[in-house]
Amino acid sequence: FYIGIDLGTSAVKLLLMDEEGGIHKIVSREYPIFFPKSGWSEQNPEDWLDAAIDGIKELTADCKKELVAGIGFGGQMHGLVALDQNDQVIRPAILWNDGRTGEETDYLNREIGKEKLSECTANIAFAGFTAPKLLWMKKHEPEKFAKIEKIMLPKDYLAYRLSGVFCTDVSDASGMLLMDVKNRKWSREMMEICQIRESQLPRLYESYEVVGTLVPAFARELGLPETVKIVAGAGDNAAAAIGTGTVGEGRCNISLGTSGTIFISSKTFGVDANNALHSFAHADGHYHLMGCMLSAGSCNKWWNEAILRTKDFVKEQEQIKKLGENQVFYLPYLMGERSPHNDPNVRAAFLGMSMDTAREDMTLAVLEGVAFGLRDSLEVARSLGVPITRTKICGGGARSPLWRKIIANVLNLKVDVLESEEGPALGGAMLAAVGCGVYKDVESITQKLVKVTDTVEPEPELVAKYEERYRRFREMYPAVKGLYR
Ligand code: XUL
Repeated sequence: FYIGIDLGTSAVKLLLMDEEGGIHKIVSREYPIFFPKSGWSEQNPEDWLDAAIDGIKELTADCKKELVAGIGFGGQMHGLVALDQNDQVIRPAILWNDGRTGEETDYLNREIGKEKLSECTANIAFAGFTAPKLLWMKKHEPEKFAKIEKIMLPKDYLAYRLSGVFCTDVSDASGMLLMDVKNRKWSREMMEICQIRESQLPRLYESYEVVGTLVPAFARELGLPETVKIVAGAGDNAAAAIGTGTVGEGRCNISLGTSGTIFISSKTFGVDANNALHSFAHADGHYHLMGCMLSAGSCNKWWNEAILRTKDFVKEQEQIKKLGENQVFYLPYLMGERSPHNDPNVRAAFLGMSMDTAREDMTLAVLEGVAFGLRDSLEVARSLGVPITRTKICGGGARSPLWRKIIANVLNLKVDVLESEEGPALGGAMLAAVGCGVYKDVESITQKLVKVTDTVEPEPELVAKYEERYRRFREMYPAVKGLYR
């Protein structure tokens, strides 16, 4: 068996897969997220570990534990986890959707310069990336910054505890703004700019490489063999791309988790000249481009749970009868926005309500607003000449047939629905199987295991209606952005 652990933002999801790709069990454990100020977001790494350990116990409760051979990860990207010389967590992790680093991001992009950053790392600075967080800590918490012995990403904290190996993988490390993405090694210039030493950074692995084995204490606690291999794993988007078979040249995957991403795989290294899309290493040994919206599934969750005070998302969506004619627009910027606006200060808005606006119009506006946000990134990819006509889809939001239909028509893409929408956890387990030598490489495991069960086709009439509405949506961000300076 292979265990895939997806360390998400709202919960850790764990999946048990056999060699043939059969999924035996999926469990999840939630943990709290803290928003100490508007636009800030933090979690406790210890909560992740407790949830993961608990989750592994439940996951393996009724399987033959001696048959577990490997563990692989997918994890929320960019988060800063800092440990001191006693391996204690110095402060809560600052997450990927935290926008506190506006000043540091400006400093990097303006004073160091986008050109230099892009030359060293293939990317420019975004508020959620790890390097600006280090600069923030250095300025605002100098005594804590001085104590840092080890810098790691969220899933690497789990790998470190489980294996004792201080490691990361190239896909996740790409989002730190500390790695030379093209050459898959740490950037000396960036270390200097952030005033850190290479010894504070984890060793870089390809996502499918074995980093070590389960430490004896956890093997005993979990009842698993000490020979269980720990595989580096990938950032959740790259892991999701493996889980959905988005590898090789020009394939596309949309993930509707807390964030919303559009991920385009490529066999060759390439950079978006405007740096609106990220240029990262992929878990298949190649590269990818990606646009990331900070609030996707979280807009839907916020709207239903915090505002409508319901957990029954399905019932709310059942009230929606007609698509393409909604007069209400929603700007999905609850935590600011990453791609393509790079604006941590903007906030969400509803526009266009009138006396006849109903609850379901607003629910629909939220779903459509997220789709329009994804379209913004797709437009950048199209402007680079990347021909995309179809996509896979995964993540919690992908379970909604209505949301899939909206996405197919707003983006004018054929949307392939898969047997499992557990992208990152499945990808983590698949990477573990490759690391353990069951499959010769990532491409061959995806060819064998990923199965499309349905395709949502865009409908020309609806596409045309949404085209007109998207043109109006595009005018809204420029109109509101000045309000939040
Ligand atoms: C990607 C990003 C998010 C997180 C979500 O750049 O920040 O998709 O990885 O977990």
